[in-house]
Amino acid sequence: MRRRHELCDLLDERRPGYSLPQPFYNDPDIYALDIEGVFNACWLMIGFSVELPKPGNYLAMTIGRTPVVVIRDRAGAIRGFFNSCRHRGAQICQDGTGRAAKLVCPYHQWTYGLDGRLLHAGAMPENFDANDHPLRPIHVEVVAGAIYICLAQTPPDFAPFRRALEPMLAPHGFENAKLAHQYVLVEKANWKLVMENGRECYHCAANHPELGISFPIGISANMSIEDDTRMRGYCQRMAAHGLEVGPTDGSWWQIARFPLNEGMISMSPDGAPLVKKPMLDLDGGDTGSLRFSIEPHNFCHALGDYAFMFSVLPVGPEETHVVAKWLVHEDAVEGVDYDVPSLINTWDMTNRQDRDLAENNQRGVNGLGYLPGPYSPKAEGLVLRFIDWYCERMRAHIGAPSARIAEVA
Ligand code: FES
Ligand SMILES: [Fe+2]
Repeated sequence: MRRRHELCDLLDERRPGYSLPQPFYNDPDIYALDIEGVFNACWLMIGFSVELPKPGNYLAMTIGRTPVVVIRDRAGAIRGFFNSCRHRGAQICQDGTGRAAKLVCPYHQWTYGLDGRLLHAGAMPENFDANDHPLRPIHVEVVAGAIYICLAQTPPDFAPFRRALEPMLAPHGFENAKLAHQYVLVEKANWKLVMENGRECYHCAANHPELGISFPIGISANMSIEDDTRMRGYCQRMAAHGLEVGPTDGSWWQIARFPLNEGMISMSPDGAPLVKKPMLDLDGGDTGSLRFSIEPHNFCHALGDYAFMFSVLPVGPEETHVVAKWLVHEDAVEGVDYDVPSLINTWDMTNRQDRDLAENNQRGVNGLGYLPGPYSPKAEGLVLRFIDWYCERMRAHIGAPSARIAEVA
């Protein structure tokens, strides 16, 4: 394991405004510290409450090396647990989705309730107390239908994010939606390269002709479009409908509503809506997009007719899973009101183009010729924000002084 002072030296080595030194993008020890300091410590967005419609529905996934399960209990609450049996630690639910009346470990059949209590453990001595062996809980927060989890014992304060997101997201009706499609895209790139790519549109004009039809690719870091008159008109129109535009943010989150390109109503191949039954039924669905994102790993776009989630889960120093999900109104009928290939077309093309860019970035960064380069403050403001946030998070994790405090001093 790379020692603390080595990481500290590498963090100190980073020039402000520049990309990271090479080991941050491919070193197995730094990857292990990323999992500890970032993915085991921060809030993560994993999906939507409508994916767990009934008691016993669960979503199981692995964060770094930690299997977790998020499940709806009998009272209807969404709870989360470490997905490791309290007997000898076997993974209880396999990664994916499912429904179970009880959680039964496949190894020796210890059986847990949906609230995590141990209900049955065969062949144990008389003095064995099942109450001493419940599943270990993780933190779960559900905001207007979006599910966030945190594996830390003491998570970062969630309340300011909830206060900001809830009123802006609630009108989009995520609780009356359904999952129309999801997939996992495997990318042979470090998770930070995947996220850097996802935090800028500097590359969009040359690489995303399909996205560029509807998405304002020159958008600023605070999600404002260049045409002031149109931006003002959009803000007034949204205000008239009681929809807050923002932008608003905290150190690890951002929320803003923004207009699409002139005349475009959805992020779609021609800007026309893709779902006949809208999620947000205003102005024919012409509400632009509500973008909400959290460091370290996610962004979402809630449009008038559908919503899209992009969350990154690292699986190795040079391998990342992108979890992509699409929501539509629960009453929209597949084949009648929408079809999946059209619904996912724009973001699916974009995801695959971005995968190629991230993998190509990884190859170049791995070479002897790589030196950290300068981000464009105008076009890569959110990348800079992400990387600065990451460096501060890692400094806090290893107990090193903050670079910002050092700069001020
Ligand atoms: S490890 Fe789960 S029952 Fe033995
Ligand atoms: Fe992209």
